[in-house]
Amino acid sequence: MPANRHRATVVTIDQLPAAPPREFVLSQADFQTLTRLAYEHAGISLSEGKQNLIYSRLARRLRALGLESFRHYCNYLAATPGEVENFINAISTNHTKFFREAHHFEHFRTHVAVPFARAAARKAGGRLRVWSAGCSSGEEPYTIAMILKSEVENIGGNDVRVLATDIDTDVLAKAANAQFSAGAIDEVPKPYRGFFTGSADVGANGKLVIDNEVQTLIAFRRLNLLGPWPFHGLFDAIFCRNVMIYFDAPTKAALIDRFIQQIKAGGWLYVGHSESLIGTHSGLQLVGRTIYRRET
Ligand SMILES: C[S@@+](CC[C@H](N)C(=O)[O-])C[C@H]1O[C@@H](n2cnc3c(N)ncnc32)[C@H](O)[C@@H]1O
Repeated sequence: MPANRHRATVVTIDQLPAAPPREFVLSQADFQTLTRLAYEHAGISLSEGKQNLIYSRLARRLRALGLESFRHYCNYLAATPGEVENFINAISTNHTKFFREAHHFEHFRTHVAVPFARAAARKAGGRLRVWSAGCSSGEEPYTIAMILKSEVENIGGNDVRVLATDIDTDVLAKAANAQFSAGAIDEVPKPYRGFFTGSADVGANGKLVIDNEVQTLIAFRRLNLLGPWPFHGLFDAIFCRNVMIYFDAPTKAALIDRFIQQIKAGGWLYVGHSESLIGTHSGLQLVGRTIYRRET
């Protein structure tokens, strides 16, 4: 076999096709400015290497504002206080779905909703408070409210509220609208599908609307978890799932300590599947997969 049979063709770097030019220039300095702002305003920790995320999440905003580069956007942010809200809305990750991490909801049903329902059946007027912290477009608090409505007869004769908060005003507006695409019903177990109207006659692009009585159990509010919490009273259960994953360890630890102070003795904290609470937090006991109980 001739010696040069397998010799690879040598291509110098100058001959490689150039990457298509990007629409906007994102310098390292602009990237650092934007990651610092994300951290300062929302606790969102974006590591080196997240340039593509910053670029893809903000390009539309630059286009909408008619800006030429990320340098111009950084200047605009500095000069326009209200823009921070749009910036955080654009960079936050909002993925969610109904009954996500279903074991949490089965636990919530059996340990919170059913005991409350039993007590309410004996004597109405009971008080129950649940907080969905980082609720995104509402699938999590609507799941909680559907479970409560299913279990608690005469729910209106009791004082039952689900507080649903997020930093992102776009997803909160969507959540408060209570409309979901027809495909969302696939995530919902059959016994709960009756809480959606339109399920029989909407096409693939149709909208489903959540039952009004489920809607009225929930209050949607903008709240930055890093800021003050203007609450009166403690919660029976807090869901903070797939939110702390974007925070660094000190931010996460401080937040968990604040949650502990906000839960009733014997109440519950549910966190996301990759957010198990490493390290010790006094007053909190691990009782199941990513389920914690405030000690009595
Ligand atoms: C991935 S979603 C999780 C939604 C839902 N909890 C779930 O598990 O399906 C994370 C949410 O946390 C919100 N978030 C991020 N930083 C926040 C902060 N500092 N304060 C309040 N919400 C924040 C985001 O806007 C986003 O909607």
